[in-house]
Amino acid sequence: MRTQVAIIGAGPAGLLLSHLLHLQGIESIVLETRTRADIESTIRAGVLEQGTMDILDQAGVGARMRAEGALHEGFELAFGGRRHRIDLRELTGKAITVYAQHEVIKDLVAARVAANGQLLFGVSGVALHNIASASPSVSFDHQGATMRIEADFLIGCDGSQGVARHSMPQQDRVDHQRIYPFGWFGILVESAPSAPELIYARHERGFALVSTRSAEVQRLYFQCDPRDDVANWSDDRIWSELHARLGTHDGWRVNEGRIFQKNIIGMRSFVSTPMQSGRLYLAGDATHIVPPTGAKGLNLAVGDVKLLARGLNQFYRQGSTGLLDSYTPDALKRIWRAEYFSWWMTSMLHTFDDASMFQREVQRAELENVVASRAFSTALAENYVGAF
Ligand code: FAD
Ligand code: PHB
Repeated sequence: MRTQVAIIGAGPAGLLLSHLLHLQGIESIVLETRTRADIESTIRAGVLEQGTMDILDQAGVGARMRAEGALHEGFELAFGGRRHRIDLRELTGKAITVYAQHEVIKDLVAARVAANGQLLFGVSGVALHNIASASPSVSFDHQGATMRIEADFLIGCDGSQGVARHSMPQQDRVDHQRIYPFGWFGILVESAPSAPELIYARHERGFALVSTRSAEVQRLYFQCDPRDDVANWSDDRIWSELHARLGTHDGWRVNEGRIFQKNIIGMRSFVSTPMQSGRLYLAGDATHIVPPTGAKGLNLAVGDVKLLARGLNQFYRQGSTGLLDSYTPDALKRIWRAEYFSWWMTSMLHTFDDASMFQREVQRAELENVVASRAFSTALAENYVGAF
């Protein structure tokens, strides 16, 4: 088989890139290890920045997001038994949309299928070859046969556990990493939203987050030991922990309901550079990870593929590699700002077991500053909506 661009991974990065290329008349094939049903049902991110909404709209896949997603013009920070609103619209002129990542995936898969795009699910044994040459290829097993795709470019959009990053020459790689000593316990709950906007809460018992999925489903998270097991958490224990961390002095409590999904995720910050070598380019979680506190991961993946789509368009239209050559430094500017913001939000809102009383008080004072000072609130809001 031959194509212009072979894309490894059908997450938001791979699917959106394939669709943007299609709109520019560039052919691609997407390879995915999991099934379509799997990728369309895995629960992950929920917050889309304005820039992400805009690009989904421009690509013609934004209709359901506009109709079913919830536009949020602010969110709340809770600490010391009180809540404080950060007015995103007033501070930045922008807003965010809460719309589940797997719904974005469904919209993108539907668009690729409608355009007769080539998506191969359930592949295994993916291996990349000859990335230093102008005719790289990727081999894999699919439906019992071993296959190979020859392409002009290979794009690794295969997430944090993928193979593409490891196919880069290792001698020039630099990895930057910070692993946090806590994780998030996430639940999906059958109940009406507890509040109209997201609530990020700091409490001596640990961080908690109130988000939503729909008028009937809430998405809640709380800080936990990353090595803990969901089996240790009965529904009663979860609710008493959430009430302890989220309850406010005015008597507000989070709505309870049937918990129908529980999971624990680890948290880390990670950037692996360079993001390209020869004819192989990496995008999204394949090359950088942020802790979810800043809600940036999906949005960063979208930012990367926007740059790659432009670079590939320039290559095929004008025969120039200018934008592709500067992909790594161009993408890293935004990535490092998001890494900084996600680290800052995480540090400000979580409890650290080894923190001294001094560190705890400074952390509380920082939050007081953020809500009391318009300058601080504006900086937070600009980073959150992705104003840059
Ligand atoms: P992925 O979504 O990981 O997709 C990679 C795909 O490649 C997968 O489908 C995988 O099966 C496939 N694959 C892997 N290996 C191979 C291989 N060898 N061959 C072929 N295919 C392969 N981000 C936000 O912006 N906002 C949020 O609110 C937010 N909340 C989050 C909450 C949680 C609980 C978690 C876990 C993440 C959250 N994120 C959030 C992060 C966000 O989900 C990721 O950053 C995003 O999925 C990255 O997209 P991607 O396409 O780069 O990678
Ligand atoms: C979510 O709704 O899943 C969500 C919201 C905000 C975050 C992370 C996750 O910061």
